[in-house]
Amino acid sequence: MRLPRSVRAADVEDKVVLVRADLNVPLEGSRVADDTRIQASLPTLRLLLDGGAREVRVCSHLGRPKTEEDRAKYSIAPVRERVAELVGDPRVTVLENTRFNPGETKNDEGFARELAEGCDLYVNDAFGSAHRAHSSTEAVAHLLPAYAGLLLLAELEHLGRLLGKVERPFVIVAGGAKVEDKIAVLTHLGSRADRVLIGGKMAEELAAQSPLEGVAVTLPVDVVAASAFDPDAETTVARVGDVPAGWLGLDIGPETQLVFASAIADAKTIFWNGPMGVFEWPRFSAGTNTVAKAIADADAYSVVGGGDSVRAVNEAGLAKSISWISTGGGASLELLEGKELPGVAAIPS
Ligand code: 3PG
Ligand code: MG
Repeated sequence: MRLPRSVRAADVEDKVVLVRADLNVPLEGSRVADDTRIQASLPTLRLLLDGGAREVRVCSHLGRPKTEEDRAKYSIAPVRERVAELVGDPRVTVLENTRFNPGETKNDEGFARELAEGCDLYVNDAFGSAHRAHSSTEAVAHLLPAYAGLLLLAELEHLGRLLGKVERPFVIVAGGAKVEDKIAVLTHLGSRADRVLIGGKMAEELAAQSPLEGVAVTLPVDVVAASAFDPDAETTVARVGDVPAGWLGLDIGPETQLVFASAIADAKTIFWNGPMGVFEWPRFSAGTNTVAKAIADADAYSVVGGGDSVRAVNEAGLAKSISWISTGGGASLELLEGKELPGVAAIPS
């Protein structure tokens, strides 16, 4: 995989640097609920400050604002406050939500010019947004000398390892919903894996369609079935195919958990995206937690990507035992599908 040139190669002394970070973090009212992505952006900001940059202008989108009323809801202010707390250097400023400008998502050059105005260099560190060709991720990279930030590079190196020669067995664990979003990655990366374990809603969707050509898929044999989509619903363990009419499979069952955990324990390379059930509800979290624990315990190179699986790993306190936790959901999947990411393609080698 081609790597874009590193910010380490840039002379930033006394320069005004525009940084595109992915500070699209979850909010609770007007505070940042999870600052993982902000923390992950700090090494590049510190590198620029240590290198003597005169000003570091950070920009990011936040959410998907559509209407005028969304402006209050998606103001970057809480993010700006958190960045200031963590960096504590007045040379760092955070620009308002790039998506407040309608040009941003159209990759409009006019908006890119506004962003580039007064800046000497551009650093893209927004891995989580690198699959978007937007003004702040793509167009602007053609207007200033462009470099890749440390997080962007680390993500490309870690995820790229899965696309190269891997230690085997290589096991992929996939779950969650939206099978149509993941079918391409399951086919591309899945054909290189020794086993693809599929749980959650995706297993049901896949079971209903023709098998994935050339992919060694393992589907659940049993599920935790619930009488309704409710955290307190009546439950029973059922064989797949024997779920009572009108009941819903909300987690993988105990036998499937054992099968998945033992395949994971034997693996030397693991990629996980997507929960095994409705893990936000404790009674349906055993499958996802078993997978998280098995991955953490495995003597393997392990990569976890996607909001829900990352959350499950963090909530179980297992993050330290995972080799790489990606800050990108859609971006990591597109990369692993074998696509070139526009935000990366725009930066020279
Ligand atoms: C994400 O959280 O997936 C990225 O920040 C990209 O956001 P988007 O899906 O709204 O473009
Ligand atoms: Mg997304």
